[in-house]
Amino acid sequence: MKKIQISPSILAGDFSNLGAEIKRLERGGADMIHVDVMDGHFVPNLTIGPPVIKSLRKYTKLPFDVHLMISPVHKYIKKFSEAGSDIITIHPEATENIKESIDLIKSLDKKVGLSLNPDTPINAIKKYLIEINLVLVMTVYPGFGGQKFISKILDKIKNLKKIKDETNLNFDIEVDGGINFENNNLVIDAGANILVSGTTIFKDNNGDIKKNIELLRS
Ligand code: DX5
Ligand code: ZN
Repeated sequence: MKKIQISPSILAGDFSNLGAEIKRLERGGADMIHVDVMDGHFVPNLTIGPPVIKSLRKYTKLPFDVHLMISPVHKYIKKFSEAGSDIITIHPEATENIKESIDLIKSLDKKVGLSLNPDTPINAIKKYLIEINLVLVMTVYPGFGGQKFISKILDKIKNLKKIKDETNLNFDIEVDGGINFENNNLVIDAGANILVSGTTIFKDNNGDIKKNIELLRS
C-alpha cells in the first residue's frame, strides 16, 4: 500500500504571510502544498493566481499541488505551469476539450489531475484514467474551506479504488474538503492515499501543524 500523503491547503493559512505559512507546513511534515485557485465564476469565491504562486515558489522545494477551480481553464494552464506548479488539477467541466488540456499539462512536464465535484460521476473521467496521475475527489462543493465533509462520497472513493485495482492503474486518489480526525480513516479505508486539509491542519490543537499532520496520516 502507498504511504498516505498530506497536502495542506494554504487557503486556511494567513494570507498576509503565506511564505511563512508554507515554511511552517514544511517543518510540520507536509508532503506537498495544496494551492486552491478560484475565479469567482467556476466557483463563487476568488483567491490567487500565477504571480502569487510564483512568489511562493522560493519558500519551499515541496511540490505545489495546484487545484484550478477556474473556467475556461485551458488558456491559463501554461501560466500556472510557468509559475511553479508541480501537479495541475482541473475540473472536466471547466475545459472544452479534456484530452487537449491533459496533453498540454503533460507536454509541460507536470503531473495531471482531474477533479470530481460531488455531483460529477466517475464516468465523466473514466476514459482518461490511464493518462493521468491523480483524481481529486471533492468531498465538499468547491469554493470555500471549512465546510462539512459529505459522507456519501465515500462510495465514490470506493468505486474509484475498485476501478484502479481492476485496471492495475497507478493514479493517486486525493480527497479534498472537510477532512478531519473523524473521517481521515474512513477516506483512507475507502482508498484515498492523499488527503488535502486546510481548517483541521491550521486550526485544530491550537494550530499545532506538526501534530495535526501526523494525526491525519495515521
Ligand atoms: C475547497 C477547496 C479545499 C479546501 C479545503 O474548494 O478545494 O481545498 O480549501 O479546506 P478544508 O480542509 O477547510 O475543507
Ligand atoms: Zn482544493
